[in-house]
Amino acid sequence: MVVLLHKRIKYIQRIEKMNESILITGANAGLGKETARQLALKKETKKVILFCRNQMKAEAAKKDLEEKTGKKIFEIVIGDVSDANSVRNAVEKIREPIDAVVLNAGGMVGKTAAQATPSGMNQLAAANILGHVVLVEELIKRDKLRKAVLFVSAEAVPGVKSLGMKPVAMRASSVDEFAGVLDGSYFGNKFDVTQAYGYVKYAGTMWALSMARKYPDIKFVVMSPGNTKGTGAPDNLPLAMRFMLKYIMMPVVFPLLGDMVHGIEAGVKRLVDGISEDRYKSGVFYASKEGKLSGEVVDQSTFYTDLKNTAFQDNAYEAIHRLIK
Ligand SMILES: NC(=O)c1ccc[n+]([C@@H]2O[C@H](COP(=O)([O-])OP(=O)(O)OC[C@H]3O[C@@H](n4cnc5c(N)ncnc54)[C@H](OP(=O)(O)O)[C@@H]3O)[C@@H](O)[C@H]2O)c1
Repeated sequence: MVVLLHKRIKYIQRIEKMNESILITGANAGLGKETARQLALKKETKKVILFCRNQMKAEAAKKDLEEKTGKKIFEIVIGDVSDANSVRNAVEKIREPIDAVVLNAGGMVGKTAAQATPSGMNQLAAANILGHVVLVEELIKRDKLRKAVLFVSAEAVPGVKSLGMKPVAMRASSVDEFAGVLDGSYFGNKFDVTQAYGYVKYAGTMWALSMARKYPDIKFVVMSPGNTKGTGAPDNLPLAMRFMLKYIMMPVVFPLLGDMVHGIEAGVKRLVDGISEDRYKSGVFYASKEGKLSGEVVDQSTFYTDLKNTAFQDNAYEAIHRLIK
């Protein structure tokens, strides 16, 4: 009798943690769209909100996802994550509380990465961080976020030695340094998007880790999808890097090193597991093992120890809020 009761309680606890409704930013393409597909195929999923900036692209993705999954559970919310007011307007349209949010939109942005937005953040920081912070915090304020948030980060934060990708190394991870990363001044006249990208993901990651302590009832996980083929990401790289990736890294270097690249299903499985499964803990940044870009994911703070520093986490939170109006 006691054993049966125990099993029943465990079952109820498991059901309570499942996500029935999930919102994904940047859900019309790449990893975001595949995340919508994989989550829709989970039996507990009742609603998937595609948060996109372009109505036509969103409609096309919705139609394709309905065909691919055989499910009519997709809804569209239009918003641009590089614009705080656009996100605030979008949140107004969300009527029912949501179980989970996947903060996926962004990437390297392309030629406009260094351009300033009205917030003072440049496009790169705004697209990866600004609207995501506004989205989550507005949902929490309105009691419309129930269980989990996943911020999509990258191995660019701890770096990858074998590829000459240096780790993010800030002198003090102070509020001023983080603010400089967000408005671009940290990089002086030499704005290199491939370097700035790691620093921006570090700031977003530290915000999420800070939120995990501020809101212990919501799970805040940070996850990198790893080096994933088949998305639009390479299109935003500078031409020389795109060439190098396509003709040297992908066919020659990555296969020699092992655990350096995977397909979109494997990259997205990390995101889906991170938001759905209990073994991924709040306040942890998971990505590939040190020096790798694919394979098993591990807690990055075991070798990139700045992630554990709660003062650094709160400095990122404060710097971001300096620039949110
Ligand atoms: N691919 C990889 O190997 C890799 C590795 C590590 C981390 N990541 C991260 O994974 C995430 C997704 O990347 P991806 O490879 O799937 O790139 P992608 O194929 O270029 O997709 C990016 C998505 O984000 C949307 N987006 C961009 N800016 C937006 C904005 N301001 N407002 C709303 N939506 C916006 C895009 O919408 P539009 O179609 O309208 O542009 C698109 O749906 C990014 O955060 C990236 O940094 C990717």
